[in-house]
Amino acid sequence: MSRWSKLRRPSTAESLPTADVTQFELLARQRLSKMAYDYVRSGGGDEITMRHNRQGFERLQLAPNVLVDVSRIDTRVNLFGSELDSPVLLAPVAYHRLYHPDGEIATARGASAAGAAFVVSSFTTTAMDEIARNTQRAIWFQLYVQRDRAFTKDMVQRAVAAGCKTVCLTVDTPVLGNRYGQLSFGLPKELECVHLRGLNLGAPTPGHKTQRGRIYDPLFDPSFNWRDLEWLRSVAGVPVILKGVLSPEDGKRAVENGADGVIVSNHGGRNLDMVPGTIDALPRVVEAVGGRIPVMLDSGIRRGTDVLMALALGAKAVFIGRPYIYGLAAGGAQGVERVITILRDELERAMALTGRRSIAEIDSSVLWGHGAAGKKTLQTPAAGA
Ligand code: FNR
Ligand code: LAC
Repeated sequence: MSRWSKLRRPSTAESLPTADVTQFELLARQRLSKMAYDYVRSGGGDEITMRHNRQGFERLQLAPNVLVDVSRIDTRVNLFGSELDSPVLLAPVAYHRLYHPDGEIATARGASAAGAAFVVSSFTTTAMDEIARNTQRAIWFQLYVQRDRAFTKDMVQRAVAAGCKTVCLTVDTPVLGNRYGQLSFGLPKELECVHLRGLNLGAPTPGHKTQRGRIYDPLFDPSFNWRDLEWLRSVAGVPVILKGVLSPEDGKRAVENGADGVIVSNHGGRNLDMVPGTIDALPRVVEAVGGRIPVMLDSGIRRGTDVLMALALGAKAVFIGRPYIYGLAAGGAQGVERVITILRDELERAMALTGRRSIAEIDSSVLWGHGAAGKKTLQTPAAGA
């Protein structure tokens, strides 16, 4: 029997949490092998950046407006030609069959039921065509450029042919971070990265091990740079978004080099430790990009109020990683759907309670100290001093 028989039965929809997406982590932990759980949960170095991701949101405060008619709340957004029910998308995460036997198919079905877009990882354990058949919503393709550029071109074009609306190039991983929690990780033999089939890696399966004397990994091309972006845009033929920008200089370079969007991300704190939380990095990237292309954000989003605050600081959309993976592990497609709907409900509630009825009505004035009302309050003591 497969090792799945050893796992607990998946939760039924009735037994899944109905509020608070952080509750899925314990359920997932009970169902996953230690190796799989550690792989999902852990981060780079001492996981200081992982903490910054949460602390950044925790330091912000909201400035509600009252007596607004909030009997209708509209969370819809349009991104790269796709109409989405809310600005919360599923970030690319490797190896979904490691977390649930139905893998990316369950994720696609959950995303579809909840009206969310799904960014499929280069390290998917299910073929793109099959994923596309299981969702009515937009799918995007996340690219890890391979040293074999002809192979890379083929991988991108197969994804686009399967219906991917954008290519999301991950730019923060020329090498992996020091992930002390993943030292024993190895992809189980029965799982395969189907879109890497035929690639000569010189290594049987992805390791992700931090090895002595070798920082490079056969799965990531560390030479890919700004000059190669034009090539990628020409082979993709769909918008190319850069995932993993943190500095304003890189935000500006992204625009100058023809990127169609950027995602402010630190990879969920999994790569370079000691960088800021993404919500702290966001405002300067937004300023540098100057509205020329959409800026989005991921890393640390756990609450509807986090989504509201990211949008207030200029993000057009946000992505979640671990929360929906814990939902997948806990309850397959229903778990994924539940996590997305909880976050959307929380966003709607946060919008109603701050008096913002649509995404267009969310701007920095919803943050305490950023809008007219907050500024006055904050400046009073200084003025009187
Ligand atoms: C990731 N992430 C990721 N990113 C990417 O571009 N390609 C990938 O294959 C993966 N794989 C992956 C696996 C696992 C287990 C995790 C947790 C994350 C990063 C992901 O897209 C996203 O940036 C973070 O997960 C966002 O942070 P939170 O929401 O997990 O805090
Ligand atoms: C990770 C890689 C695969 O974060 O993106 O594990």
